[in-house]
Amino acid sequence: MSTNHDHYENAPAGPCVMVIFGSSGDLTKRKLIPALLNLAQEAVLSNHFAIVGFASNNLDTVSFRETLGEELPKFARDPIDLKMWDSLKQRIYFVKGDFLDAEAYKRLAQQIEAADKAHNCGGNKFFYLAVAPRFFAPIVDRLGGVGLTKEEEGHWTRVIVEKPFGHDLESARQLNTDLKKTLNEKQIYRIDHYLGKETVQNVMVFRFTNNIIEPLWNRHYVDHVQITASETVGVEHRGGFYETAGALRDMVPNHLFQLLTMTAMEPPISFDADEVRNKQAEVLHAIQPVSPEEVLTCMVRGQYGEGVVEGERVGGYRNEPDVSHNSNTETFVALKLQIDNWRWAGVPFYLRTGKRLAMRATEIVIQFRRTPFVLFRHTAVKNVETNRLVIHIQPDEGISLSFGAKVPGAVMRLGLVNMDFDYKSYFGLEHGTGYERLLRDCMVGDATLFQRADMVEAGWSVIQPILDVWHALPPRDFPNYAAGSWGPLEAEELLERDGREWRRIGEEDLDVRGRIAAPGVSGKASTVV
Ligand code: BG6
Repeated sequence: MSTNHDHYENAPAGPCVMVIFGSSGDLTKRKLIPALLNLAQEAVLSNHFAIVGFASNNLDTVSFRETLGEELPKFARDPIDLKMWDSLKQRIYFVKGDFLDAEAYKRLAQQIEAADKAHNCGGNKFFYLAVAPRFFAPIVDRLGGVGLTKEEEGHWTRVIVEKPFGHDLESARQLNTDLKKTLNEKQIYRIDHYLGKETVQNVMVFRFTNNIIEPLWNRHYVDHVQITASETVGVEHRGGFYETAGALRDMVPNHLFQLLTMTAMEPPISFDADEVRNKQAEVLHAIQPVSPEEVLTCMVRGQYGEGVVEGERVGGYRNEPDVSHNSNTETFVALKLQIDNWRWAGVPFYLRTGKRLAMRATEIVIQFRRTPFVLFRHTAVKNVETNRLVIHIQPDEGISLSFGAKVPGAVMRLGLVNMDFDYKSYFGLEHGTGYERLLRDCMVGDATLFQRADMVEAGWSVIQPILDVWHALPPRDFPNYAAGSWGPLEAEELLERDGREWRRIGEEDLDVRGRIAAPGVSGKASTVV
């Protein structure tokens, strides 16, 4: 997905130093270090590579290396290649400093230069901002202050920014403006870890490399699209952050919109980063602006009360640590969006995401239209099921297509059968952290899977009217769904009003996966006399 040929050929990324801000946080030990080790094991990490951690903790290079080594078995792929880890460990350094202290950046600059020299990193570097959002702009400003953001003599410098990228349209714009005082857009890599997931990347491949799919991918054949990202976890130890965010901000303008744009975009003329992102941005711009009335009727919010999740009794959101006892923060949203373009006009896109739901599942459902007339009219068959394509993003990665078939036998009976492709059983791939591809893309300069400033702002523009109305009209019925359910009743009604229903995740998989459902079960098969 790049004009860079190295990238296609799976060659090692070029030499560089990676600087991790907030290196003593969770992300470094859970994801970044294990991902770098996986890259090293796959021989796609340059030998001329070094890591400099920067944080205010009382660590030095020796203790930082030790801490990472101790944590590694918990998060790295088993078995760990100890020789490889040892080689990587020798290239890790630590600088103690406060993110706002300009003096500390001088020490950082010295350490980067020393690491660069020791490992021949060629003067290239990238900064990973694994820090609270309030530090993004000040860090970049201070990096600029000591000349660390300059790209000179053919050396590159890039900055990876973690989400959340702003908390509304205005703050996202402001952040873009602030970052661009020091950096140019091509140096900014806004990361969305959803794009590191294999199946998300596969949406584009599936659509644009299979000639039988694309002709059906439009309003003539598709009835509607459902995108679900449901989680069983609550807010865990992030109550303080979540209180200021809520499900809409936390998941929709980033993760869910990535899935939406990959599903709805026009075919790009190449896999060049800007070409692909232009097509994604077009989708966001084509989403019909929602009026305040539509917010009230087509956008559902919810908050979990106590309940049972995976057999365990759990408390409600308002009882989570660092959460107010009368909090109005939503932990669930369901939205109905329309895309005003030739391909999708009149095809609703239903999105839902929430915490403490019945199952962990992220998936995209393409529900195809009914056949033009009911062949089995005047028979016992009331509903001939329509074709449905499900792209399973997680936890099971795969694609399934359901279609009607005659149940063998003298009597005419119809069943819905599934054609299943399961990533793991087919490719037998080891799961990575999801960060391998993204880190390597940054090292080779491929920004295809990173968000551009205009995409971030376009995403927030869609969300802003919803934020405004919800802010003006606080919910009166929270908590309105039990932990372990599929969210508030209104989310079901949102589709029922349109004569549709959410795919019954889990239940339907049991019914139809790989076999014909028994007559009458979940309406999946019927008898024709
Ligand atoms: C994060 C959100 O961006 O994504 C979390 O802040 C959420 O609230 C997480 O749990 C979901 O990611 P994944 O990869 O576990 O589906």
